[in-house]
Amino acid sequence: METTDRAVRPSNAGERAARAAANAGEPTLEFVGGLPYDAYVHAGTLHSLQKPISKDPGEMSFLMISQIMELYFGLTCFELREAQRLLREDDVWGALGPLRRACLDIEGLNAAWRGLRWMTPADFNRFRDQLGEASGFQSAMYRHLEFLLGLRNAALLRPFHRHPEAYEALLEAMRAPSLWDDVIAVLARRGFGIPRDLLDRDVAAEHERHPAVEAAWVDIYRDETPGNPLWMLGEALTELADGFGDWRYQHLKAVQRSMGEKSGSGGSAGAAWLRRSMDRVVFPEIWSARTLV
Ligand code: HEM
Repeated sequence: METTDRAVRPSNAGERAARAAANAGEPTLEFVGGLPYDAYVHAGTLHSLQKPISKDPGEMSFLMISQIMELYFGLTCFELREAQRLLREDDVWGALGPLRRACLDIEGLNAAWRGLRWMTPADFNRFRDQLGEASGFQSAMYRHLEFLLGLRNAALLRPFHRHPEAYEALLEAMRAPSLWDDVIAVLARRGFGIPRDLLDRDVAAEHERHPAVEAAWVDIYRDETPGNPLWMLGEALTELADGFGDWRYQHLKAVQRSMGEKSGSGGSAGAAWLRRSMDRVVFPEIWSARTLV
């Protein structure tokens, strides 16, 4: 991780109170070194990353909203890895914190779609050709998020073959347990009848709906003891899967609004391909168990 500049000097409550008193309540206006805000947020760097490739003014919102979503993909991955770390320590209560943050991140991510609602097919056509073959399908961070959520398909690693850094990171994520695998391990440790072969399975392959996991969730959802942490975990995961599903649905709608059923820039059939991609279910038993409760 990048270290922050020395312009970010730690402070404390006493210093802050003394500064506010010396400033008569107004913010500080003079800084000897660089601006502490920029040293921390790197706002200058962030605002230097928008390089539109057409002269169409509408492209800027398309580009920046893609960048904002990339950042949210990264933030959500960060939270899910933290949740996994805590679940591996059997700290279900602790894992609820990062899962809650991940759900809120996804709300922010989904709100970003609003910024593209202006785009009609004619608007998109004004800069679409300039994008060449560039497509969100090639987003390594999105794929990372899918892998963490348990959606795994080795074929989707192919675009990154020639980019060793992204490829290695994705391969590692695909060979490590997903969040759902970690949840199943918690259920096993808590005494639910999860068979050994499921716990020892090759996690690089996509998990398929399993009756033992489904039965565990049926039990958890039938148990109405207030404050049951596994029930709360189930609801947090449901919220997460739901929010991710909303992103996929809103993406499909944005595609239909801006290009109908035309082919995609990344070489696919477009909306038809996306509809198939959306068939893959996140945390399958958290949904199927609901029919049986
Ligand atoms: C209205 C604008 C958009 C259109 C028309 C569009 C179109 C498409 C299409 C047609 C695909 C399928 C692959 C292909 O052939 O290109 C795709 C995939 C994808 N796009 Fe977009 N997209 C838009 C906005 C965005 C934005 C803002 C993001 C955020 C980074 C994004 C992320 C993705 C991702 C992650 C995939 C892969 C989905 C999967 O694997 O299921 N798209 N997009």
